[in-house]
Amino acid sequence: MSEAIKKKIKSLESEIRLHQKKYYLENSPTISDRDFDQMFQELIELEKKYPDYVSHNSPTKIVGSDLDNNFEKFKHTIPVLSLDNTYSTQELIDWAVKLSKESIYSFEWKIDGASIVLYYKNGELDKAVTRGTGGVGDDITDNIRTIKNIPLVLSKKMDLIVRGEVYMTFQDFDDFNQLNDGKYANPRNLTSGSIKQKNSSLVSNRPLKIAVYDAYFIIENKMKTHKEIIHFLEKESFPVLGDTQFKTIDNFEKVINEFKKRKEKIGFPTDGLVIKLNDINQRNLLGETSHSPRWARALKFEATLAMTIIEDIDFAIGRTGKLTPRAKVTPVKLLGTTVTYATLHNQDFINEKKIGIGAKVKIAKRGEIIPAVEEVVEEPLSIFTLPDRCPSCDSKLSKKDDSVDFFCLNKICSARIINSLIFFCQRKQMDIEGLGDKMIEFFYNKNIIQSIIDIYDLHNKREAIETLDGLGKKSVTIILEGIEKSKQKDLKLILPSLGFSEIGHKVTEILIESGYDDIDKILSAVKEKNATEKFTNIFGLGEKTIISIINEFSETNNISLIKNLQKRGLNFTATQKPKSSKSIFKDQTWCVTGSFEKFNPRDKAMELVVFYGGRKTSSITSKTTHLLLGEGAGSKLEKANSLGVKIVSEKEFLSILKDAGYTEN
Ligand code: IVH
Repeated sequence: MSEAIKKKIKSLESEIRLHQKKYYLENSPTISDRDFDQMFQELIELEKKYPDYVSHNSPTKIVGSDLDNNFEKFKHTIPVLSLDNTYSTQELIDWAVKLSKESIYSFEWKIDGASIVLYYKNGELDKAVTRGTGGVGDDITDNIRTIKNIPLVLSKKMDLIVRGEVYMTFQDFDDFNQLNDGKYANPRNLTSGSIKQKNSSLVSNRPLKIAVYDAYFIIENKMKTHKEIIHFLEKESFPVLGDTQFKTIDNFEKVINEFKKRKEKIGFPTDGLVIKLNDINQRNLLGETSHSPRWARALKFEATLAMTIIEDIDFAIGRTGKLTPRAKVTPVKLLGTTVTYATLHNQDFINEKKIGIGAKVKIAKRGEIIPAVEEVVEEPLSIFTLPDRCPSCDSKLSKKDDSVDFFCLNKICSARIINSLIFFCQRKQMDIEGLGDKMIEFFYNKNIIQSIIDIYDLHNKREAIETLDGLGKKSVTIILEGIEKSKQKDLKLILPSLGFSEIGHKVTEILIESGYDDIDKILSAVKEKNATEKFTNIFGLGEKTIISIINEFSETNNISLIKNLQKRGLNFTATQKPKSSKSIFKDQTWCVTGSFEKFNPRDKAMELVVFYGGRKTSSITSKTTHLLLGEGAGSKLEKANSLGVKIVSEKEFLSILKDAGYTEN
């Protein structure tokens, strides 16, 4: 018996650790929060019953770790605890009754993002650190500095620690995801992935936000309540959670229902509420365990689940060739919409959950966006196997790199072409009025538009298309005018619209800013022997992107597409950002290291280098002429010294700029 229990505890421990790794490190959980919490609760209960079998590093004793090898470690000076949670209002009330019947409790949203601890020293943001193990976190200061709604300087020169959550609104997530071919699953995953980017200049275009919910003062302070702390944070311009409520136990149910009603309207992801004792003295008396404070609880909302049956499984091939399976389910209402399809991600997911036609399943909107199969209630007769050939063109599907997904690699596959055309005409790309998804499919099937070039030759077929069913003079005029208007777009929009691998809006912008403001410059650069080295020197381009740039712009089909579009009047030159007439940095190549007082993110300093006629580079090479040196500089300084690069401090840099007429605002 005891052996069996020991074994059960061990297996729960390792399963919990595995799911913590998937959630915190890989940003791709394979079980629902509810299932995870249940597993965690089971372990807590077994440990309570059999204290002799509790291991000192049980997941119940420590906080799930999000540590990552890419970052410097920082030892927290406060214990960064997690929360005990419950799914039941009654359990919450019982907890509060036991704690203190008459007291006031705060109610606030539990934001579903990534936990962050902000350390202010002498009134300035000094470090931003992830929760990590709760004792040690990852120093992601440079990345967090790029987030716009966070105060970098306080009103007084005080030391302060603030806890909060980095998150993304649904709207910002949707906009960003659309520009990235819908490759991100939900705002939480994109948030955790973003704050762990190695290159902080890439973080600055992620629409991240912070909300803070607690402060720790280094020097004794007079604040007696959570309410006062929140007001203080608000006064210091911190973004605090908007609708914190303060209630006694008799009002718990009412306030919880009110929050639940508002959930759909708040616009950011939340997985419940956090309830805390308002009185700080009371909190201190209760203290905390190594995992969580005794004075706070999370009330998690059940993911709204709906029961349905998988009637069929189909698959779509996207413009990149990726095969995405989806389940056609018996229509069912879920959070205000009728769901007819649920995503099945890939074969691994299907196998893990034992999904197949005929299965009775519970579906939920994960991250409240895409309905997904959460649980199989009645298993199907057989687990579904995805086809190994493309459903559209019958080519053999294959895996790319270490991806779990399968791809159709046939470049002339109809599904890929139609989706590429749809992508090209989309609002965020060339924005061609009149050429929506259905119209493109219609023209494709009628053999009228088979390639991007055909779009720009459509005017030659005007008379023929005017007579087509459902089209008339008026709608054809709208389409042709839309196409003509799109010719006013420049390199900045055309390049990302072509859908070349890795070459999206941000990469295009980086290329243009680094002097590749004309397609001919790019096409000739990739032919050069030292092409890789040249692109490696550009600030913000990673290894994978550079390989793609070289491959895509060397491929004959792509070159001929570009040339043909040029012939049809498309403008492959970027209209340059205004530059100062004072080219004080002409013929200079600048690199930057460390962090700065006036330039946050530090890319702002590099933008000024470009504005005043210079170039920017991400690493020190023999071509680098200047290094802008901030605080906490790394290995770049050593390298710059060994190569005789001129080192410039922030103060010197500002004074050079001021001489050229630059004013801070
Ligand atoms: S209080 C000791 N308040 O939830 C205080 N946490 O599951 C513990 N979270 O690590 C945290 N919104 O990342 C608190 N209003 C809120 C929160 C919140 C989100 C996160 C936080 C914490 C996790 C615990």
